[in-house]
Amino acid sequence: MSILSGKHILLGITAGIAAYKTASLVRLFVKNGAHVKVVMTPASKEFITPLTLSTLSKNPVLDSFTNEDDDNEVWNNHVELGLWADIFLIAPATANTMSKMASGNSDNLLLAIYLSAKCPVYVAPAMDLDMYRHASSKTSMSTLQSYGNIIIPAEVGELASGLVGAGRMAEPATIVKFIESHILEGLPLYQKKILITAGPTYEAIDPVRFIGNHSSGKMGFEIAKAASNLGAEVRLITGPTHQKISSNLITVIPVVSAQEMYEQVHQFYENCDIAILSAAVADYKIKFISNQKIKKEEHSLTLELEKTQDILASLGKLKNNQLLVGFALETDNEITNAIKKLKNKNLDLIVLNSLSDKGAGFGTNTNKVTLIKRDLSTTNFPLKSKAEVSKDILNEILKLIDA
Ligand code: CTP
Repeated sequence: MSILSGKHILLGITAGIAAYKTASLVRLFVKNGAHVKVVMTPASKEFITPLTLSTLSKNPVLDSFTNEDDDNEVWNNHVELGLWADIFLIAPATANTMSKMASGNSDNLLLAIYLSAKCPVYVAPAMDLDMYRHASSKTSMSTLQSYGNIIIPAEVGELASGLVGAGRMAEPATIVKFIESHILEGLPLYQKKILITAGPTYEAIDPVRFIGNHSSGKMGFEIAKAASNLGAEVRLITGPTHQKISSNLITVIPVVSAQEMYEQVHQFYENCDIAILSAAVADYKIKFISNQKIKKEEHSLTLELEKTQDILASLGKLKNNQLLVGFALETDNEITNAIKKLKNKNLDLIVLNSLSDKGAGFGTNTNKVTLIKRDLSTTNFPLKSKAEVSKDILNEILKLIDA
């Protein structure tokens, strides 16, 4: 999944020959999960048809303040469009449009949207060699940059005129990568390495049986998603679960037993910045695992159990600069027990959920948590979706990092 997934991208197309490449650009955005709307200047329609773009973007293309073709002529509200967009990309941006943007001219819909847009504006210039070099184009570009707009540099190559030099619009794939990197670099957890454990562990009894628990893994997977949305590089070490996740920033490492989870976690802990252990790790495992399927012979069967290694406690001992977050699932004396765990395991933050709260804990899509920090300051949150709870946990972590 790309960082662009779910984003609203407004693509503004102006009248340059590179407009023909915007079909691929729209396609790439859509493929990356973005919602795309296209606004064109009237002259740009000479270079690519609105039908192509509306088909690819799955949205009507906007090109004027009103829909003249429509019997019930409707006003295309430029302010609303400006607010709809998470990203406004103008590609190709001609010298004419850039100069109008720089001077505040709003004689077409695209320019009016530009003046009302509150989101980041990316500009991919495209023009011929001498136009690109001209002092006036350079002034427009630096003026736009001074407004906070982001210029996606034109590339060097053969131009439509036959001249060779700078001025070609960046290739669609380059534009997409540029925007992805730019967004990523601005995110608060950019370049932070986060280790997350999730799900249950299964402790084998024999080749066909195990001791497990009802953890669905949802909480850990939601935390992984939320962390990657904040730009973190995530290693998600998960016990057996039906949860699915896909993101360029998340590496999933499936494990089965507590011992396997312990080993994988220790492999990555040293180099991580934050570790969040949400897995419901078995506290006990079978002492003697049978190589063969155990037959039902006697009236009763006794299995000897021994303690698993406490992964979280072990990380607490090894802690250098990592921020360590644990979970506590309690049924009674919740706060006291959670604080005990926070201290004993040398944590920076503990996420307490109580099984006595309806909608909290295993298997549900919701959770109700209390966050307790090292200084014992405590925040109670209401019942929320696990996606929202993940954001609350990460917000608390961001505060701890900034402190
Ligand atoms: N944990 C772990 N390794 C274990 C057991 C637990 O990493 N072998 C982690 C969990 O991922 C969670 C926290 O420790 O973050 C839970 O603490 P724990 O003391 O194990 O809670 P309970 O299992 O509920 O323990 P108790 O039964 O003593 O309350």
